[in-house]
Amino acid sequence: MLDRLLLVIHLVLAFYTTLANCAAQEPLILPGYKVGETIPVSCLNRTIDTGEHITDASGQLSYIPFPICNETGRPFELLFGVEKDINCTIDFIDDPFFHLLEFYVHNDAPLTCRIPTKPIPPSLLMKEFEAGTTDNTDGQGSLSEVYTPMIVALAGTLQLSHLHVSTNLNVLVHAAAKSVAPGTIAAVTAYSVSRDPPTRIVIGDNLPLRFSVRWYPNTSLPSGWTGVGGHLTFSTLVYCILSALASAAVCVAYFRGVELPRRLKSHGKDRLGGMERGGLGGYGIANGNGNGYGYGVGKRD
Ligand SMILES: *[C@@H]1O[C@H](CO)[C@@H](O)[C@H](O)[C@H]1NC(C)=O
Ligand SMILES: *[C@@H]1O[C@H](CO)[C@@H](O)[C@H](O)[C@H]1NC(C)=O
Ligand SMILES: *[C@@H]1O[C@H](CO)[C@@H](O)[C@H](O)[C@H]1NC(C)=O
Ligand SMILES: *[C@@H]1O[C@H](CO)[C@@H](O)[C@H](O)[C@H]1NC(C)=O
Repeated sequence: MLDRLLLVIHLVLAFYTTLANCAAQEPLILPGYKVGETIPVSCLNRTIDTGEHITDASGQLSYIPFPICNETGRPFELLFGVEKDINCTIDFIDDPFFHLLEFYVHNDAPLTCRIPTKPIPPSLLMKEFEAGTTDNTDGQGSLSEVYTPMIVALAGTLQLSHLHVSTNLNVLVHAAAKSVAPGTIAAVTAYSVSRDPPTRIVIGDNLPLRFSVRWYPNTSLPSGWTGVGGHLTFSTLVYCILSALASAAVCVAYFRGVELPRRLKSHGKDRLGGMERGGLGGYGIANGNGNGYGYGVGKRD
């Protein structure tokens, strides 16, 4: 009887523990993005005098929404799994923003942005902040896993009175493989295409950013180059094998038909004329060259 009672208590306890564990792990089983869902982009706020990052009262790095695009009236955002070209014109470059642009293109500070790895429910955001899970070493606390960093490598040059900014940018986003973690961001990067003519910027101008967004369904980067030095296609492989065979055949024919008879002939001559044609002649010439070079250098000193 006591055994049974203990067993029941044990089962109840086990059930309760499992429940508690599930509740504790709730953030790990967040649903992923659906295709087409919007992904907000936020960037590190920086001081305009030194370009240093700004932290809030609790020591967290202060991320603020990407500037508003004139085209949409909203901050720049990505759409999960949607490849498209997005125009984002930042309407009026004020003095502080101009100084930040100077830091970015002069590589004093990167344009550090981030996107949520999975959609963040508002309740989770609140919980993270209330729990005070602040890690002062990187200032991101436990939220750092919730976001994926996105460095925008903005290229340009600093001029005396103005800036040249390469405003055409490529954005590459890797989703985690669907079988591993559906709807989850694995990596993202953005970079200026410096080859294109830059845009001249002064305070009060607008900044016409042109993003080309491409998505990859897993973390491996496909080869994008099919010419010389690129990946080996089947036809390239067949071509290589065939030409290798053909040149081998030519070599064999040459050796058998021309070189071998000649060698046989001269071998016969050598035997007749003794060893006057020494095999070490080549070495002698090489040594002479080496000595001459060494001597010349020594003399110059
Ligand atoms: C960014 O930091 C500056 C300087 O502390 C502050 O004036 C500004 O309001 C911040 N930007 C946002 C959007 O919070
Ligand atoms: C941005 O939008 C405002 C109002 O919506 C408009 O007056 C302005 O001309 C636009 N600027 C650009 C560069 O499109
Ligand atoms: C973006 O702007 C360029 C001109 O700068 C224009 O040619 C292109 O059609 C625009 N693209 C979109 C998607 O609006
Ligand atoms: C990753 O996705 C590409 C398609 O872009 C596919 O060809 C490749 O096989 C995938 N790699 C893995 C490891 O699943």
